[in-house]
Amino acid sequence: MSRTFRIAPSILSADFAALGAEVRRVIDAGADWIHFDVMDNHYVPNLTFGPMVCEALRKHAVTADGRRVPIDVHLMVQPVDALAQAFAQAGADLISFHPEASAHVDRTLQLIRASGCQAGLVFNPASSIEMLEWVIDKVDLVLVMSVNPGFGGQSFIDSALRKIERLRGTIDASGRDIRLEVDGGIKVDNIRRVADAGADTFVAGSAIFGQSDYRAVIDAMRARLAAA
Ligand code: DX5
Ligand code: ZN
Repeated sequence: MSRTFRIAPSILSADFAALGAEVRRVIDAGADWIHFDVMDNHYVPNLTFGPMVCEALRKHAVTADGRRVPIDVHLMVQPVDALAQAFAQAGADLISFHPEASAHVDRTLQLIRASGCQAGLVFNPASSIEMLEWVIDKVDLVLVMSVNPGFGGQSFIDSALRKIERLRGTIDASGRDIRLEVDGGIKVDNIRRVADAGADTFVAGSAIFGQSDYRAVIDAMRARLAAA
């Protein structure tokens, strides 16, 4: 199956004092999606930003020629439902959550889709993926954590590769159009391996925002993805 790769810079590692400008800069540098990490100091130990910041950034998430760039909201919050709805209102395009954080995963997926967004399930490094089978008809995106959620700049956990391989099989067998995204420790040097395992969408925070030339990093990632 031929896949279009997408690169989703995580603004967790951007300059929080200049987020609108950072979003524009990284889109000018070739970002396909903007990855928006929501942490609540409860489900994860860290605390980031909420729906009001998403709403403020919505108008910046456009290309120079006016095309809307999807905002990919990754909820690391518990409970999920009320905030998911608030983010849908705030202009999110995709909303993903950790199944452990929702009492009723099927209902949360329905709620996200009913609010007009695409719905994603996120699997932690130690989480099993079996539940996907029971809700796959309501899922638009599967996000594999290749670090434990909560912080940028951590090292890639290799078992994520096996999990991605397995999920690629499950998604292909379903015949559904589901993105397989990976999040955590993605760099120019490992992106190809992750794509070979079956991922098609790549979150990268520190690898991109840790360098002054965002385009150089994104171009180098695409070059690795294009190499046979
Ligand atoms: C971690 C977040 C990631 C984070 C990735 O909880 O979900 O999106 O920004 O950062 P890097 O790419 O630096 O590992
Ligand atoms: Zn994330």
